[in-house]
Amino acid sequence: MVTRLVEVEQTRGRLAGPPLTPRTAVIWSVLRAELDRRADTDLTVLDVGGGTGGFAVPLAQAGHRVTVVDANPDALAALTRRAADAGVADRVRAVQGDGDALAGLVEPASVDLVLCHAVLEVVDDPVAVVAALAGALRPGGAASVLVAGRAAAVLSRAMTGQLDVAGLLAADSAGTAGPRDTLRRRFAADEAAALLAAAGLEVEELHGVRVLTDLLPAAVGDGQPAALLELELALAAQPPWRDLAAQLHLFARRRA
Ligand SMILES: C[S@@+](CC[C@H](N)C(=O)[O-])C[C@H]1O[C@@H](n2cnc3c(N)ncnc32)[C@H](O)[C@@H]1O
Repeated sequence: MVTRLVEVEQTRGRLAGPPLTPRTAVIWSVLRAELDRRADTDLTVLDVGGGTGGFAVPLAQAGHRVTVVDANPDALAALTRRAADAGVADRVRAVQGDGDALAGLVEPASVDLVLCHAVLEVVDDPVAVVAALAGALRPGGAASVLVAGRAAAVLSRAMTGQLDVAGLLAADSAGTAGPRDTLRRRFAADEAAALLAAAGLEVEELHGVRVLTDLLPAAVGDGQPAALLELELALAAQPPWRDLAAQLHLFARRRA
């Protein structure tokens, strides 16, 4: 499914077109399948830590109602401007709040699709946040969760000569390089899947995002962007390549 993404993006109408980059193409491919499955419905979407709206605004442009909960007021201001510029201000709601206290911000079992991208690695309590994501979903609703990959952090530091940092990352049980690390944890694929499963979410798909992109010299990606994108899409679902990706994308569903 993922490898047909370029063709699909160019031929379908409702989701007019977020740019296809190695950072987002795999995720949009998975989301596209869910949006197509629910094509007759304007979905209620919750984007936790949605930042400036890189996913929220295209989803609103596709006709869905999106609430973004984010701790950062500057990000939410940028989101609001972006939604207005895109003509979808009426379908995007910005809520300043803490993902760790999500349960108090969102009505239980009210959401069709919840996004939580690049957030679980920075919150206080990822178990509580995932439980809140699951609690916000209607039965049968879907979760799109993106987390930092543990193996990629070791490889990327080693390949830039930071062997001491790579060693720290490899030895640390949370996959961090210590107190000065910008992230509080990183995940292996099975750890991330287990986190979602423990909250009652059934993981349907698991992909790697940016298997190669961060490891290659910039000139390779700049010189052969289409080839790199195709290769990323081809590797995304295949262990061991999937498990070496900079980020892991999980698509899961609350039991109906
Ligand atoms: C790395 S950015 C990811 C933004 C967006 N989800 C994306 O993938 O492009 C992390 C976002 O999470 C937000 N964030 C961090 N900690 C948070 C928390 N405890 N509760 C809510 N949002 C949080 C930040 O303000 C930031 O917008």
